[in-house]
Amino acid sequence: MDHRPHITEDAESLAQEAARHWIRRALEAIQARGAFHVSLSGGSTPKRLYQILAEGELAKSLDWNRVHLWFGDERCVPPDHDDSNYHMVHDALLAKVPIPSHNVHRIHGELTPEDAASRYARDLVRGLPERQGAFGRFDLLMLGMGADGHTASLFPGTPALEERERPAVAVYVEKLESWRVTITYPLIERAREIMLLVAGAAKAPVVAAVLEERPEAQDYPVARVRPTDGELIWWLDRAAASQLDAAP
Ligand code: 6PG
Repeated sequence: MDHRPHITEDAESLAQEAARHWIRRALEAIQARGAFHVSLSGGSTPKRLYQILAEGELAKSLDWNRVHLWFGDERCVPPDHDDSNYHMVHDALLAKVPIPSHNVHRIHGELTPEDAASRYARDLVRGLPERQGAFGRFDLLMLGMGADGHTASLFPGTPALEERERPAVAVYVEKLESWRVTITYPLIERAREIMLLVAGAAKAPVVAAVLEERPEAQDYPVARVRPTDGELIWWLDRAAASQLDAAP
């Protein structure tokens, strides 16, 4: 698997460098195609990046009218719930930048899981450019990774891993005793570029297993992230990269 890990000293420099790259990709997409469609990851790792996007000088150069924010997954909770990825992104970014509300394509976690998934799948089909069948193309797709190797809400042992017809599905995660909505591999694979943002020593064993294609990697959903006509770049801090054989 062709990987190009980008390794930074710590979580702050990771957020700073990844944010600069995010803006560069946004400016390029807008220049080339008139819009930037990006899928945001959830959890805690990307929050600092979103804050930097909101506060940084670079973001002022961005025409937010041409930016479309999507989500890689969502917890099935209302948008003002502390567990909501939308809630985290709203506080870190949306409340601080002049993006039109119709450019923010959230997953409606307040609906039933199935209704939230089917509504988001419909939004994705209607709203993403360069669609092939049900799968449009993100200019940039951000993903995180759990210590169990899940990405988005593609958790080990769940039916969502096998989905090839729909761009988003509802999934019950036994270990979390909760419902999620997640994008699926066929949509992920269409992305122009995937930014896999991983920080912290707890993730180091899975990072090394996947990047070095060790046998146990087949158990990790993140190992199946493979763009068909795009780039996958792992963005790591030194702690997350610490078990790589060639870690500098
Ligand atoms: C979510 C995310 C999920 C996340 C990983 C890592 O909704 O939780 O989309 O895939 O990226 O769980 O989470 P942390 O960044 O909090 O470690």
